[in-house]
Amino acid sequence: MNHFQYKDGELYAEDVALSAIAAAVGTPFYCYSTATLERHYRVFADAMQKDALVAFSVKANGNLAVLKTLASLGAGADVVSGGELKRALAAGIPGEKIVFSGVGKTKAEMAAALKAGIYQFNVESEVELLALDEVAGAVGVTAPVAFRVNPDVDAKTHAKISTGGAETKFGIPWSHVHAAYATAAKLKHIAIVGVDVHIGSQITDLAPFETAFTRVVELVGELRAKGHAISRIDLGGGLGVPYRNDNLPPPDPAAYGALASRITKDTGARLIMEPGRLIAANAGLLVACVIYVKQGEKKQFLIVDAAMNDLIRPALYDAWHEIVAVAEPKPDTAWTRYDIVGPVCETSDIFAADRPLPVLKSDDRIAILSAGAYGATMSSAYNARPLAAEVLVKGGEWAVIRPRMDDDALFGNDRIPAWLG
Ligand code: LLP
Repeated sequence: MNHFQYKDGELYAEDVALSAIAAAVGTPFYCYSTATLERHYRVFADAMQKDALVAFSVKANGNLAVLKTLASLGAGADVVSGGELKRALAAGIPGEKIVFSGVGKTKAEMAAALKAGIYQFNVESEVELLALDEVAGAVGVTAPVAFRVNPDVDAKTHAKISTGGAETKFGIPWSHVHAAYATAAKLKHIAIVGVDVHIGSQITDLAPFETAFTRVVELVGELRAKGHAISRIDLGGGLGVPYRNDNLPPPDPAAYGALASRITKDTGARLIMEPGRLIAANAGLLVACVIYVKQGEKKQFLIVDAAMNDLIRPALYDAWHEIVAVAEPKPDTAWTRYDIVGPVCETSDIFAADRPLPVLKSDDRIAILSAGAYGATMSSAYNARPLAAEVLVKGGEWAVIRPRMDDDALFGNDRIPAWLG
């Protein structure tokens, strides 16, 4: 459920008309709903065991206002870089609710995380483990470690966001797991605390989770039998969201939470979850304005002022996003089909092909839905297009939570070498 609805003939975010925001900040802009973020967080957290740590995956949406909204509900953070760590801390998420994942943590990032007193490092290789031991020794602390294991499970999602297969770069290969724990047990500045798994994203079937979680629980038994103190199980993120109204919805968090509890309950371990998309995707949309309607030889193009640099998911993963007109279609509105494209000079700059929409003209507005996760965070200034503004709505109030990038930020950091004068 989300809080973007037509009211009085136009699309609203909660009690604010998107046209009012557009008139004030221009387009394109991302708009997030506080009520939807809160609802998604609560539905998810309530479906998990009471003492579980719900660590929002900052890569999905790292805006400080979004993080602060979730932090105020008790959320922790799953970070994958020093930058995300800084964002989480700046948003007021305490170190003891932060987990750090990723295959390429640098020593500088490790030191920063250790100084912040993070809850857990999800370590993905033995070389990383040795580096962490060295850094922890230098900082004068012990690093709490879970190994991210690779259970070799097919998550049945898009290949580019599948992470649990043996051919991917992620996690400790299954056959090396025991050796990795044995190594960790010998290191002075490492404390083994748990096991971690994450098999992919936009997973719409519970079966791969069941397989992966079951393997992990068996592993916990084996590791404990060898004397390793496993008190936490991090089950990662990955639960999918509905992007299309006409598709079967993915399983709801209650079913996912019940599955996780059922499989892990005998371990007595504290669960950590790292949801990103589920919390943020349908809590945000991208509003754009029609620049031109262009009749091609074979297609009719709706050329809008948002582009692949703002929302890359369709170009990168052929992702489907629902697209609607901001002005509510009336019963007698004429409809047509458009390829909805941006101004970027690439054929991949297309949001949707052959999509039915009301007949639109220049200056009309559209909204690209389900864009609150992996939208703004994956955007770039390609084609020297400024990063879009971001807006957060709460009830009848709204605020710009990141202004549109200005010229100074766009090229003011470029430097002319002396030889160019
Ligand atoms: N934990 C780890 C270790 C992850 O790698 C990810 C996502 C998550 C948690 C959060 O997964 P979620 O709950 O959001 O599915 N850019 C892609 C998605 C990449 C996901 C990468 N890892 C997209 O736009 O579809």
